[in-house]
Parts: sequence; C-alpha cells; structure tokens
Amino acid sequence: MAVLGWCALLSFLSLGVAQLNNSATFTNPVFNTGADPWVIRYEGYYYMTYTTADNITILRSSVLTDWSNAMVKLAFQPPEGRNYSTDLWAPELHLINDNWYIIFTADPNFDQPPPETEMFCDYNCPAVNHRMYVLQGSTSDPWTSKYTMKGELDTYDQFAIDGT
Ligand SMILES: *[C@@H]1O[C@H](CO)[C@@H](O)[C@H](O)[C@H]1NC(C)=O
Ligand SMILES: *[C@@H]1O[C@H](CO)[C@@H](O)[C@H](O)[C@H]1NC(C)=O
Ligand SMILES: *[C@@H]1O[C@H](CO)[C@@H](O)[C@H](O)[C@H]1NC(C)=O
Repeated sequence: MAVLGWCALLSFLSLGVAQLNNSATFTNPVFNTGADPWVIRYEGYYYMTYTTADNITILRSSVLTDWSNAMVKLAFQPPEGRNYSTDLWAPELHLINDNWYIIFTADPNFDQPPPETEMFCDYNCPAVNHRMYVLQGSTSDPWTSKYTMKGELDTYDQFAIDGT
C-alpha cells in the first residue's frame, strides 16, 4: 500500500515535470539580469540596485520600464579580508532623515567552509555566515553620494539575508 502510494506519487511528479519542461524561454522586458532587484524613485529618477555578488552597483534611469540606457555607478567595492568581502546580496536603498543608506547582506569567504551542523532552520542553510551591513551615503542625493561602511546590523549574530 505504502509502496503503491509512493510509486503513484512519483509518476505524478514525473508527469508534472514533463509537462512543465518547456524549452521556450522568457526574457524579462524590464531588466534582463540581476537577482534581488530593488527600485526606488527620487526626484525624477528611478534608482535600481540588485545582487552582483562582488560589489554594490546602482543604476539610474528616468524610465521605470527601460534600463538599457541607464547610468551605472559603483557604490561600493568591498575590501578583501573582511566579514562582508564576498557574496554581497540583495542591496536596498533607503532615505532616512535626509541621508541615503544601503543595507545588504554578505559573508567573509563564500560561506566556506560549510557549517558542520545546520542552524535553527528546517532547511539547509548554505548562507549561514551571512550578516547584514549598512553603508552610509555622504549626502541627501543617492547618485552623487559616496557610500562608506557604517557597520554591521545587530542580528544577534544569526544568519541574516535579504533585509526587507
Ligand atoms: C527539458 O527539455 C530540454 C529540451 O527538450 C531537454 O534538453 C532537457 O533534458 C529536459 N529536461 C528534463 C529535466 O527533462
Ligand atoms: C561589479 O560586479 C559585477 C559582477 O562581478 C561586475 O560585472 C561589474 O563589472 C562590477 N562593477 C565594477 C565597477 O567593478
Ligand atoms: C567577523 O565574524 C566573526 C565570526 O562571526 C566574529 O567573531 C568577528 O568578531 C567578526 N569581525 C568583526 C571585525 O566584526
């Protein structure tokens, strides 16, 4: 009974995969690369940032639906040998008290070595060494601001990614 049930389940799953495996591709018409996009509008421009993993990049466009002519700015290149030197993910731009900030998550060394035991999550946590960090902009303008490391967000020294 249990075996029959399992086989039925397997066939059902294979059928599902076969039906879903369509070789057609879809190209995102707004922006064709980059995970974890974050967009905010400020004084006539849209600002986008997303995961490049190696640095924090900001794009500026006057049109939300067309980033092909966007200007590109390197907001932050992490120094080597810090706890936030690799796997910079999911940056976000925030305007707080007339000052721009970027929060992001990163880790010291590509999450290597992997943890011997999993943390308090019921799935495998490869990002276990990730913590949240804050960059502070130098002005109330997100584009001309120079962004410097402000500090680590206190997440009780726990795995933390993708702030918002
Ligand atoms: C999905 O389809 C492609 C193209 O027909 C094929 O190359 C690939 O092996 C298929 N993948 C699976 C998991 O069946
Ligand atoms: C930022 O990192 C991405 C991904 O590695 C890379 O393509 C891009 O050239 C980098 N930007 C700069 C200004 O180095
Ligand atoms: C880097 O992370 C390690 C491990 O969590 C921690 O012990 C150390 O204090 C951190 N270094 C800094 C400068 O925060």
